[in-house]
Amino acid sequence: MAKAQIAQKSPYVMEVTPGKYAWCACGRSANQPYCDGSHKGSEFSPIIETVETTRKVAWCGCKQSGGAPFCDGSHGRL
Ligand code: FES
Repeated sequence: MAKAQIAQKSPYVMEVTPGKYAWCACGRSANQPYCDGSHKGSEFSPIIETVETTRKVAWCGCKQSGGAPFCDGSHGRL
């Protein structure tokens, strides 16, 4: 399986409001941490995450997290 491209070696920490988010899994999106369709033609597809309440999240930026779409600290080993 191909490895996702590293968008950045740290999470995107941001406050999000309730809604559906498409987290970029391939690392190629120009609209990080969200999908912009750049995965087309690859084996990757975005992870759709539903956020119920306004809260702070840490979206994985390195795309290697075992707990995607959220950061699990894996970026510390890159
Ligand atoms: S940014 Fe990917 S695991 Fe932290």
